[in-house]
Amino acid sequence: MAIAAETYREAQVPRLGQRLSVAGVSHAYAGAAAIEDVGFEVPAGTIAAILGPSGCGKSTMLRVIAGLLRPNAGSVRIGERDVTDIPARERSVGMVFQNYALFPHLTVAENVAYGLSRLPRAERRERVDELLRLVRLTAFADRLPRQMSGGQQQRVAVARALAPSPAIMLLDEPFAALDRGLRADLQFEFVRLQRSLGITAIIVTHDQDEAQSVADRLIVMNKGRVEQSGRPAELYDSPASLFVNGFVGHASLLDAVVETDAGGAGLRLSSGPLLPMPAPVGFVPGSPVVLAVRPEHVMLQPSPSADALPAKRLLSVPQGPLMMHDLLVAGAHPVRAAENRVPGSLTDNLPEDVFVTFALDRCRLFPAP
Ligand SMILES: Nc1ncnc2c1ncn2[C@@H]1O[C@H](COP(=O)(O)OP(=O)(O)OP(=O)(O)O)[C@@H](O)[C@H]1O
Ligand SMILES: [Mg+2]
Repeated sequence: MAIAAETYREAQVPRLGQRLSVAGVSHAYAGAAAIEDVGFEVPAGTIAAILGPSGCGKSTMLRVIAGLLRPNAGSVRIGERDVTDIPARERSVGMVFQNYALFPHLTVAENVAYGLSRLPRAERRERVDELLRLVRLTAFADRLPRQMSGGQQQRVAVARALAPSPAIMLLDEPFAALDRGLRADLQFEFVRLQRSLGITAIIVTHDQDEAQSVADRLIVMNKGRVEQSGRPAELYDSPASLFVNGFVGHASLLDAVVETDAGGAGLRLSSGPLLPMPAPVGFVPGSPVVLAVRPEHVMLQPSPSADALPAKRLLSVPQGPLMMHDLLVAGAHPVRAAENRVPGSLTDNLPEDVFVTFALDRCRLFPAP
């Protein structure tokens, strides 16, 4: 789908999105807990991404918000209204399921009109036209879902969920089945739609790149609980746990033990070398810890220096403007490094034996698991 600066009539803003608050929500399927004490807020008109590994409770959380599941405990509020005991159809929530779930025997236009049965015929047709324009599928109104590509079906599913002007849109892995290029186009398209309509949206994904590119806020779940929520940069720069650190962005993990001497705190790497730390580390001496190092916090140099550790360069792969190096540091620690490919620099021609330092003020320390 080309994202051209074409002019078209924006649908009239039906209703501004509402704030969503989830507090203390727990749900168990036949006695087996799926989510426990989950709480988060999504400000009106913003997109939140729920991120987490398979089985952590993402879809369960969406079903609770949509009213398809009644939680064992906790509450869901949309705007000022507590909807915990309100049936799904009265919640003003639109949902796009992972497999789009279009009605196969209905045309595109009929699929979009499905939730509009209460509108008079003429108004209904107008609304369907408006939505098809919005998702750029006017020419496809009379087709059946099976006569369309996955990306087009996905846009029909979005149009159908938007039709009744929901205050909240829930999307469960909406782009998972699509190839990379189309996924990026649709992500962009969805953000454009969401902004122009002012709706509040929650998108479930286990693709962290997708989460970071569409969402104003991330909610990282693990084993039925929220590990951390906040702005993407907040989670990237200050992950609250080793899990979040590894789930949002890449990090190499180095095992170490905290030591202190007159000069302050140091980290004794499991391979032997001592890293002097620039600031107090907040762990008592003797604590086993994990040092998490992002690729951009590793600096390479061709010759040794006082604080640099020896490293073997195993693999170097260009990634656009960056060169990614896979290193074995001090003979023991696999570490990934990213360097800017500055013209004329050594980046593309480093020797196999190099030396590294870490931007230790930016690296994170966690208790050893
Ligand atoms: N209908 C059900 N009956 C019983 N257990 C269920 C049901 N649906 C989900 N579960 C269980 O609840 C837990 C959470 O499932 P959920 O579908 O919410 O995970 P998810 O995060 O959406 O995973 P995925 O990324 O694979 O879609 C899992 O352990 C799952 O096996
Ligand atoms: Mg799921």
